[in-house]
Amino acid sequence: MSKPSKKGGQPQVVVLHGPNLNLLGTREPEVYGRTTLAEIDADLRRRGGELGVKVECFQSNLEGALIDRIHEARGKAGALIINAAGYTHTSVVLRDAIVASEVPAIEVHLSNIHAREAFRHVSLLAPVVVGQIVGLGPMGYGLALEAAVKLIRKGAESR
Ligand code: DQA
Repeated sequence: MSKPSKKGGQPQVVVLHGPNLNLLGTREPEVYGRTTLAEIDADLRRRGGELGVKVECFQSNLEGALIDRIHEARGKAGALIINAAGYTHTSVVLRDAIVASEVPAIEVHLSNIHAREAFRHVSLLAPVVVGQIVGLGPMGYGLALEAAVKLIRKGAESR
């Protein structure tokens, strides 16, 4: 794995949100709840501050833009948190980008993808991430951040 470096003196966690997640709050609230993406991101940045990591959040509806952001994290970020949304179930290229980044990644889904349609049961990213957190709504992001910080600390200890 490439060395996670520090930006602004703090290790960095990059949070990636895939397509349609910009509509959280109003998109299928019965499935995804009423919390907006801006609220999720603000909470993550605040918690990051408390945990001593800089959190950068990025949303795109474009596969290539997500890949570019993952490439940017290479050699810089300590961990990735990714909800690739619908790309989870289809994107070989996102999976390849995570592997190429050499940054440990945690996969998050607001809904329990395993309790939904069969096509959502498969994640092409699952085999290349450290772990998955699914079905816990916005709470899942907070838990992922705690896990990311532990991974960063563990990585630092073993170097
Ligand atoms: C999702 C689950 C995906 O199947 C879906 O396409 C999404 C959101 C989730 O967070 O539950 O857009 O990733």
